[in-house]
Amino acid sequence: MVQYHTTMKKVYNFNAGPCVLPQQAIDAAVEALKDFNHTGLSVISVSHRTKEWESVMNECRGLWRELLHIPDNYDIIFLGGGASLQFLYVAMNLLENKAGYLETGVWAKKALKEAKGLGNAFAVASSADKTFCYIPKGYEIPADLDYFHITTNNTIYGTEIKYDMDSPVNLVADMSSDIMSRPVDVSKYAIIYGGAQKNVGPAGVAFAIIRKDILGKVSRYIPTMLDYRTHIDGESMFNTPPVFSIFVMNETLKWLKGIGGVEAIHEINERKAAMLYEEIDRNSMFIGTAAKEDRSIMNVCFVMAPGKEALQDEFMAFAKERGMTGIKGHRSVGGFRASIYNACPIEAVEALIACMKEFEEIHR
Ligand SMILES: Cc1ncc(COP(=O)(O)O)c(C=O)c1O
Repeated sequence: MVQYHTTMKKVYNFNAGPCVLPQQAIDAAVEALKDFNHTGLSVISVSHRTKEWESVMNECRGLWRELLHIPDNYDIIFLGGGASLQFLYVAMNLLENKAGYLETGVWAKKALKEAKGLGNAFAVASSADKTFCYIPKGYEIPADLDYFHITTNNTIYGTEIKYDMDSPVNLVADMSSDIMSRPVDVSKYAIIYGGAQKNVGPAGVAFAIIRKDILGKVSRYIPTMLDYRTHIDGESMFNTPPVFSIFVMNETLKWLKGIGGVEAIHEINERKAAMLYEEIDRNSMFIGTAAKEDRSIMNVCFVMAPGKEALQDEFMAFAKERGMTGIKGHRSVGGFRASIYNACPIEAVEALIACMKEFEEIHR
């Protein structure tokens, strides 16, 4: 979707999250704010204990199941607290003896920190030695872990585990920034969780897909709100759900289904990422920062080429002038990051590529 600001100049949104959402979902949200489902009430004024709201919840759960082919032995729930609270949920509900984490960045480290607070948790492998610019390989997952935790897409560094790995123990994945970007074999995971605010909606709601047999095995007392079973039993309405965020998530998934689902968007995502990486590799002004084999199809990170570093601010201003927004790299790594999530149109990627080419021409 291409957004316009008041001067009607085109704006291409490369923000890392919250980020670009389908215009169709935004339009539906605007309409529902005024009149939800012909109730005469705004979606933010309607009770969540009504048939109208329940039908949104059911539709949303159904779309998750359909789009990701979630098997029947899994539950899907929606929660507040973002992915960051899921870091704690996972350890609270699964950690009894030992948990292993793949340390692939800041988010993975934060997830590990929560588990360490509750018991024996450690990094099985790490890419901290090279500022997380690659995904560790060749390590062995200990067979006596309660679970092994991975972050499939490392939003800050632009690295991604693009396949469903084999694990001898329960595999738990933070898929905040690549959920629904590619087909996933859900049956390989014990839990998949994430914040919605990249590919599946606005901020304010997190999702968790949980295999039914893995809960109820820890001896600790789990506070009611941090117990996954509370929310499974309450069908994500044990307490008041974030209704507006869930409404927009549902509309985002309707859009995704309409364009052919996860399989169709995956092809488009691959194409967008390939175009942009090709330009980064070709253009003498820039270099990519992630190891080539681990490059993310969602977050494309790059910096000025050696010798061109002094031009960084100039390129930022140059790109901004041409409508690029949100391409500044994360504050912890610098450089540039173009987040090209599901709803980012090919047109935006083309505009960024044209801008990079033009910048190179000027400085040749
Ligand atoms: C991979 C990953 N995990 C976790 C988080 C934290 O998400 P939240 O802000 O919803 O807590 C982020 C945020 O960008 C993320 O990219």
